[in-house]
Parts: sequence; structure tokens; C-alpha cells
Amino acid sequence: MGGGVIGCAVAYELGRRGLEVRVLERRGVGLGATQASAGMLAPFIEAEHAGPLRRLGSRSLELYDQFVADVVGASGDSVPYDRCGTIEVATDSVTLARLERSASELTMAGVGCRLVGGSEAVDDEPHLSRHVAGALLVPSHGFVGAAPLTAALRRAAARHGVSFQSPCTVRRLAPTPQGIEVQTDSGGQLSDVVVLAAGSWNDKVGAEDGATPWVKPVRGQLVRLQWPAGPRLTKVVWSSGCYVVPWPDGTTLVGATVEDVGFDERATVAGVTGLLDAAREVLPAITRAQFETVRVGLRPGTPDDLPIVGWSHAVPKLLYATGHYRNGVLLAPLTARLVADLVLDATPDPLLDALAPGRFEAAATALTGASVTAGSDT
Ligand code: GLY
Repeated sequence: MGGGVIGCAVAYELGRRGLEVRVLERRGVGLGATQASAGMLAPFIEAEHAGPLRRLGSRSLELYDQFVADVVGASGDSVPYDRCGTIEVATDSVTLARLERSASELTMAGVGCRLVGGSEAVDDEPHLSRHVAGALLVPSHGFVGAAPLTAALRRAAARHGVSFQSPCTVRRLAPTPQGIEVQTDSGGQLSDVVVLAAGSWNDKVGAEDGATPWVKPVRGQLVRLQWPAGPRLTKVVWSSGCYVVPWPDGTTLVGATVEDVGFDERATVAGVTGLLDAAREVLPAITRAQFETVRVGLRPGTPDDLPIVGWSHAVPKLLYATGHYRNGVLLAPLTARLVADLVLDATPDPLLDALAPGRFEAAATALTGASVTAGSDT
């Protein structure tokens, strides 16, 4: 359930491994948070410190070359994908000190990176403002076109026999002795396993006791521009106010706001101007760019910023693959593998311990001392 980048990657992987798969999507494939993603692949910025998020991100990043090659090969589509590196810039001494700490932590962990002063940063990326005081370069980072990747995943999955039903609203999941009955607006269908990958909409699918309330929407606005004529940016630029992703055709994405406004998918003047002001501060040439559009997505946030991947304790044969917050595109290849391994009864990866669906309930119980109904996820 769910046809975003996670649902499509999971369906593709399950189809590739020979299972019969149907994707149910309430809106249209890739039309939720995925369509507003800048597709950044930057685990060493997204996860500032060592921990499960960084381990997940770096492992998924290692899978990316092969993942894109396989999906492109199976779909015949082209997908913008470039491991061009990131340049994270500091315009003040506090940020510079943070970048210095990150550089030594990453170096100690064996991650390739380079801390440079302001003038070297500008030599490296000539569009940067002269106000940049220093920068951290991570060459293994990059980006992928999230929407083209998801379209390619859909086509590749279809070539492996996966079918897609969209628009399709799921009303209820009813466990039965034979499996889960998925009740949709166009009737019921029985499934051996249901993978819930509906992002921010997980608790709206009518899974009743199986639906987790721990995912909440976090709005992100993303501006799409066309870079002015002349030399282009060569790397993803990251500052404390925004990030800027340069596609090879001049398309330039400036993201993203982080807003707790519920299920509100409207763009705002404050959001767009804030992003453009932040981008102009570090890349003055952006004032000459052409404005194309603004996209809005609802990231599925969780209390600890980690995804929820694993079997439900309340509903047999219900598997969660959701809550990827800022890292759905980055974590898609690894999530697809973890989920397919679970469905096919492979030995669970130890990384899954940190992603267990019941972990928030356990934490809430420890805090309140309340007792928990056995087997409930909620
Ligand atoms: N991964 C960047 C964002 O969610 O804005």
C-alpha cells in the first residue's frame, strides 16, 4: 500500500524476487512526498552524528550505483543520477566550528571528506559568495531525480509482473486465517502479506489496531528554477538555510522548508521567499535564475527521525515500511532489500532492531509506567 518511492522500490524488489505483487495507491504513483523531493543522497549531512540513521544512510548509499543501473536496465528509462559530491558551506564562525567537528568525526570514521577555507571553497565552486568562511566537501554524496527514479521503478516493477491499482483507497485491513483482506473502495482482495508504505497517510488507511499513529506529516516546500546561462554549479550546495541541487540540464532545486502544519500541502510566500533568500546569500547568481515552480510534500516524520520497518505485532502479516522522514529516496534501495528479506523469511538484519514498529509504544510505556495491551502497535 502506497506508490511513493518506498512502495515502488519494495514492489520492484519483491517482483524481481518472483513474488506476485499488487501496489494500491490512493492518488497516483509518486504523487505524495516523492514528487517534492530533491533526491539528495547525503547521509553524512542528514545524520550529523554516528548512529542508526547514518548506518542506514551509508549502507543504502553503497547500494545506489547498482540500484540505479538495475532499474534503468529493467525499465529502459533514463534517470538523472550524479555522485557529484556536496559542498556544505559556513558563513559564520559557529557553523564553521560545527563543520570542523564533522570533518574530524567523518575522517575518524573513514569517510572521505575535506575541510577548506573560504577562498578555496570559492575556487572549487566559483558561484559561491565571497562571504563563505569555509566549507566541508563530501565527494561520495550526490543526487538522483526522485520522480524519474520512481517512474522507472514502476516500469521496472511492471516488467517483473507487478500490477498497480491507482487511484485506489483502502478502507480497512481485516486479518483472516488465510491472510489479510484489503478492503478498498472497489471491493476486497486477499493478500498473504501487506506492506504498509503510505508515508504520512499510514494512519488513514483503516488498519484500525494495526495503524501506527507515530508518523506525522512534516511539510517541505521545494523551489524549482532554471539556472542562468553560463557555467553551472558542479556540486550540491548546502547551507544552514537551504540546499541547492544542480541537475545536468540546468534545472536547479532549492529546498526545503521543514514545517509542522498537519496535512496542509499548500505553498506559501514565506516558504518560497525564505528559501530564495537563503539560496541568494550563498549563491548570488541565483537571482538571475528563472522561476519554474514550487512543489510541496509531506515528509512522514517519526519521533526519533528513523523509519519504521518491520512486522506489526498487532496484525499478523502486516509489514511496515514507512516514516522515512527526510531520507525516503536515500533509503529506498536498502528498505526494499530489508522488506523483501523479511517477507521471504531471511535472517533479519540487525539494523532492523532500531526500526521496530513497537519502539515508540515501549518508550511511552517506560515514561508513563502505563501497561500495554499485549500485541498492540498503537
Ligand atoms: N532530505 C531533504 C529534505 O527532506 O528536505
